[in-house]
Amino acid sequence: MKNTAVFSFKLNDKKYEAIEVPTCLTLADMLREEFNLRGTNLSCNQGVCGSCTVIVDDTPIAACHTFAFEIEGKNVRTIEGLESADGTLDPVQESFAELSAFQCGFCTPGMIMLSRALLDHNEDPSEDLIKEWISSNICRCTGYSMIIEAVQLAALKIKRSKV
Ligand code: FES
Repeated sequence: MKNTAVFSFKLNDKKYEAIEVPTCLTLADMLREEFNLRGTNLSCNQGVCGSCTVIVDDTPIAACHTFAFEIEGKNVRTIEGLESADGTLDPVQESFAELSAFQCGFCTPGMIMLSRALLDHNEDPSEDLIKEWISSNICRCTGYSMIIEAVQLAALKIKRSKV
């Protein structure tokens, strides 16, 4: 029985054709080991801590709990693809940096990708909605309040950029 899968997908908007990987390879391991994108952190390996959050099309998912072949035909966005080509940070990255919304930083890529997905769905989220979304990601350092403020600041920046 064949134990590899062949598929095409986009990674940070770049198309990859006919990639062949073991069927048991997770998306997180593919990103980290095959594409050397180490910003997608691994911690629990059970899809519960959120440190490996990436955005698939417009949905945040746990990359450790997704098989690589499941992203066939989809676009995967990782923390490495968030800044623009000229190096300008995404408003969410900027806000986390400005407010120092991290301590050890381990959870930060996942928190930023989750927050980006939230703001893609809702440009003006209430504090309760932000809390609800980030409850899927664990931060062992900050106490979350700075993260909530960073998401609020990012929402403001996005709103101002459209005026
Ligand atoms: Fe350390 Fe969140 S900043 S886990």
